[in-house]
This record gives sequence, structure tokens and C-alpha cells, in this order.
Amino acid sequence: MGNAESLMRETIKRIVPYSPGKSSAEVMRELGLERVTKLASNENPLGPSPLAIEAICGAAGQAWVYPDPDCRDLTAALAERLEVPAETIIVGRGSDEVIHMLGLALVNEGENIVFATPPFAMYPITARLMGAEERTVPHRNFRHDLDAMAEQVDEKTKLVFISNPYNPLGTIVTADEVERFLDRIPDTCVIVFDEAYFEYVVDPDYPDALGYVRDDVRCMVLRTFSKAWGLAGLRVGYGIGPADIVNVLKQVREPFNVDLLAQVAAVASLRDPDQVPRSVRCVREGLEYLYAQLDEMGLTYVPTQANFVMVDVGIDSVECFDALMRLGVTVRTGEIFGLPSWLRVTVGTPEQNETFIAALRNVLKC
Ligand SMILES: Cc1ncc(COP(=O)(O)O)c(C=O)c1O
Repeated sequence: MGNAESLMRETIKRIVPYSPGKSSAEVMRELGLERVTKLASNENPLGPSPLAIEAICGAAGQAWVYPDPDCRDLTAALAERLEVPAETIIVGRGSDEVIHMLGLALVNEGENIVFATPPFAMYPITARLMGAEERTVPHRNFRHDLDAMAEQVDEKTKLVFISNPYNPLGTIVTADEVERFLDRIPDTCVIVFDEAYFEYVVDPDYPDALGYVRDDVRCMVLRTFSKAWGLAGLRVGYGIGPADIVNVLKQVREPFNVDLLAQVAAVASLRDPDQVPRSVRCVREGLEYLYAQLDEMGLTYVPTQANFVMVDVGIDSVECFDALMRLGVTVRTGEIFGLPSWLRVTVGTPEQNETFIAALRNVLKC
């Protein structure tokens, strides 16, 4: 019998597969719970737009037909909404897939990719998949250190990832900081503004990354239907960037990468003017409640621009996670992000937030 390890490409031996944590169904089964409040994956508890649900039901009978490989309706709807040419848009099976395409299409073995640590998991996975060097820059006060990142960029840098807002820490980089950064970066690399949570941002200093694309900066902006649009289970996201780069990405895209129901659901969602405001309101009101409770409990947290918040629980995060799970609440432990006494908590519905706070008070006895 062969040994799979000897068959593996050298570079992928270093990939640590993405770990989503336990599903609610697993937790319920293992712990005999009737209900689990999942605040672990930054999903939108309000769910999809009713228009999306109606479109999915309407299109279900068409599931035997291959989807449009070019996502033409969705691309046209996005182009109109964002006021950018359709040729500057690429749709993926989640923005994860667009990150994957950026690696496959642009990064040669031995080149490097720059990103902050702790990173969003897809950045190191992509670097390792491509045999690229990972140039990591630790966060500074929970924020990207763009000056230090610029110092890491050289002629072998192909991609610079800026998660803005920053998953897992929730902070943003400002327009001023980005503009200073752009002045220092050669146009031999592509800067990727990963804006999975941009709909939730309220800070007026948030940069207009689409404006950089319009101004011909060598950058890609990534967005998703998984968060504010509530379609994480269907897997659809997109990138906007210079048409020549988008064309290169299309060379590595799988045919029929975005499924039919995902496409119709995304198009229908864009017709719903209430979906994003409703989702943003839920998060901002939820944060008001959570901040007040955490303040009362004397816990430190990182004020966030996204739909999740990092909280220092002052004890081992894995122990705290286990205790919360036994009470039917799942979150993310900070130890995977190098913050061993912190938890990352998704902002839920009012009821979910109250359940989390009650469980946390119970665990921390405060
Ligand atoms: C920063 C960031 N980028 C990209 C994604 C991927 O989103 P999706 O593949 O669901 O579009 C996520 C998901 O959590 C994320 O946090």
C-alpha cells in the first residue's frame, strides 16, 4: 500500500485544513441539548431576503440544468448596483473561491504573499497551496500595521491581503492609511481588499476601495453574499478589479462554479432594498447591548466594524468555549488567533445575544 504523504505535493504538506468547528447538530447530539445558539461563524441570523427564498423555490425545478457559467444576470445586476463595467467583475463560489483563483492564477512558487496575523484562514491556505512564501505582519493594537506590511513588499510579492474589516479582530484600516500605503507599493503586485463585512461598517474613515479600482490601482475588492445578504449556505461572492486581471482569473475558474440557486438567490436579493439595512440594524443594536453588558462585567473587547466582536474573557479561551458549549452556545476560541484568553463572538438576534451573555455570566460567575 502506498503512503499518501509520499504522493503529496511538497508545498501542500504545510496546509492546515480549514476547521469550521462543530456544527450545531453535532453539539446537540453529543451533549444531548435541544437547542444550540451558534455564534461561531459570523453568519446572519436574520437569514436571506424573502425575495431570495421565493426565487430559490421558483428555480428549484430547474436544478437539472447546468448554471450559467458566466453568471451573466448576477454580473449585470452587480455592475448596475456598483456602477462598474461588467468586465471588472468575477463571481465565485463564495469570495473564498475568488481568493483561491487569485492564488492559482497569479502566484508562482517562490513568490510571496503579504498579510496580517492573525489572518483570515484562506490567506495562508492559498500561499501554501501555491508554494509561496508567507510574509506575515502581526497586528498592532488589533489593527493592520500597513507601514510594516509595506516594508514586507518586494519584487517577489504577488498578493497583499487586507481584510477590511479585519476578520478576526473587527477593526478597519482608514482611507488615509490606505492611501499612504498605496504610495509605497509597486504595481507588480495586486492588493486585495477583502471586504466580506463592508456593509456593516459605520466608521466614516472607511476607504472607498471600489474608487481605487476605478482609478486604475492594481487592486481587487472582494465581497460576499454570505454575511449581510444571509446566503452563506449557497456560496456566492465576487471580486471587482481591473478587467485584465479579471480575465486572467477566468482562466482558472471551474466551469459552472456558481450553482444555479445561488445565482438566482443573489440576483433576487439585490432587488430587496431592506435586506442590508435590516441586517446592519440588527448588528448595531446587538452591539449596543453586548458592549453595555461586557462593560458591566468589566471585560475588555475590541470595538468592531463587523458583525462579530473579540472579547477578552480573562480565562483560557478553550475552557471558556467548552463551558459555553455545554450551556448550548458556540463561539470561536482566540487561541487559534494567538489570543488565548479571547473569544470571537458573532452578533446574533436580541434573543441569541441575551442567551450568550447569560451563559458567559454563568461561566465567569459575574
Ligand atoms: C475576511 C473574510 N473573507 C472572506 C470570507 C469568505 O466568505 P465567503 O467565501 O463565504 O464569501 C470570509 C468568511 O468568513 C471572511 O471572514
